[in-house]
Amino acid sequence: MFLSWAFFILIIGLIQWYTFLCFKTISKNRYWLASYACFSLLIITNFIYQLYNYDRSEGFTPSISYSLGFFISLFVFQSIIVIGLFLEDISRISLAVYSVFKPNKEKNIFFPQRRKFLSQLSLALAFIPFSSLLYGMYRGKYNYKVLSYELEFPDLPSSFDGFKITHISDIHCGSFDNPEKVKYGVDLINKQKSDVIMFTGDIVNNVSKELNPWKKLFSSLKAEHGVYSVLGNHDYGDYMDWETDQEKINNLQNLKKIQREMGYKLLLNENDFIIKNGERLAILGVENWGAGGFKKVGDLNKAIEGISDSDFKILLTHDPSHWRNKVIPHNYFFPLTLSGHTHGMQFGIDIPGWIKWSPIKWRYPEFAGLYKKAKQYLYVNRGFGYLAYPGRVGMWPEITVLTLKKSKIEV
Ligand SMILES: [Fe+2]
Repeated sequence: MFLSWAFFILIIGLIQWYTFLCFKTISKNRYWLASYACFSLLIITNFIYQLYNYDRSEGFTPSISYSLGFFISLFVFQSIIVIGLFLEDISRISLAVYSVFKPNKEKNIFFPQRRKFLSQLSLALAFIPFSSLLYGMYRGKYNYKVLSYELEFPDLPSSFDGFKITHISDIHCGSFDNPEKVKYGVDLINKQKSDVIMFTGDIVNNVSKELNPWKKLFSSLKAEHGVYSVLGNHDYGDYMDWETDQEKINNLQNLKKIQREMGYKLLLNENDFIIKNGERLAILGVENWGAGGFKKVGDLNKAIEGISDSDFKILLTHDPSHWRNKVIPHNYFFPLTLSGHTHGMQFGIDIPGWIKWSPIKWRYPEFAGLYKKAKQYLYVNRGFGYLAYPGRVGMWPEITVLTLKKSKIEV
């Protein structure tokens, strides 16, 4: 523990020293340098203080979230400066070595003007992600986007041609800090006037009581065929310290009870039918199943009990790795699976039809939006809320509207 703290502080210290030199190259003004040093020191000491006093029985509080957000913003800003100047240092060292063997005293190999220019350039470049990360905390996290898709299926029952689903995920109640903005998001969901609303888990960060202040608002989600929901990895209280095992069990029971009081049809490895004109859609919901170290209590075989493979199935499963690992290889055919979990890392470049990129793609190949494999669709919602970094950049909070269409030919 001591060694990891010492290593962390050493790395942060080196970055401070390096970036301070960059600022010094640009200007020798004492006030400018002192302001920068104080600003950095404040963010770093506050983050270390919050981290050191992190209480696992409290979970991720807004104060630790914000201290992390400011720290990440500063770290990205300084890292870009360090990379820029480090590349220049490598060229200077190479030239210095070269000059030992071929001394040429008339030339100044250290190019102070070039150093100043590169410092200014690095600073300007670093300012772009820095300001974006700050904007992400100020506005980005409530910058709700409605994304609409039409999906065609040859085996969709005719009565469901044009059936509209609003899909949301990862509410993370415990993170919200602006009731007005959240209400705007909830109203926007209702404005889609979909036939059904489907929520794919992580309603809280850690504890069921996070729902209390938001219960009334999220109970106002309305659709003709109601709201279906499942649990996500954060709903089980696994990322908290509990005084007793019973306390943890009670918390989960309470979370399920509150969702049912809110009118949500919580599916725990079970299914339900939506019936129209004698035809039916099978809605399946599994508990969390995630690749790697994540909880694996989702049971697809249990969830399909009572339905036949000829039923048109819509599966709700929190973690998209479940689709690749268990749903696609399953002997039943699942035309449409809905997931969340990744949040699109709350950071990325996402221009529909052009580019969709986030560092999380290295962990989750299906990290945001629509995917298709073996004629089966997966939709990964980028999430309604946020967690840890209290913001979003590029990967905005999402409300998805999926319209099901019956296709005449096999797609
Ligand atoms: Fe989540």
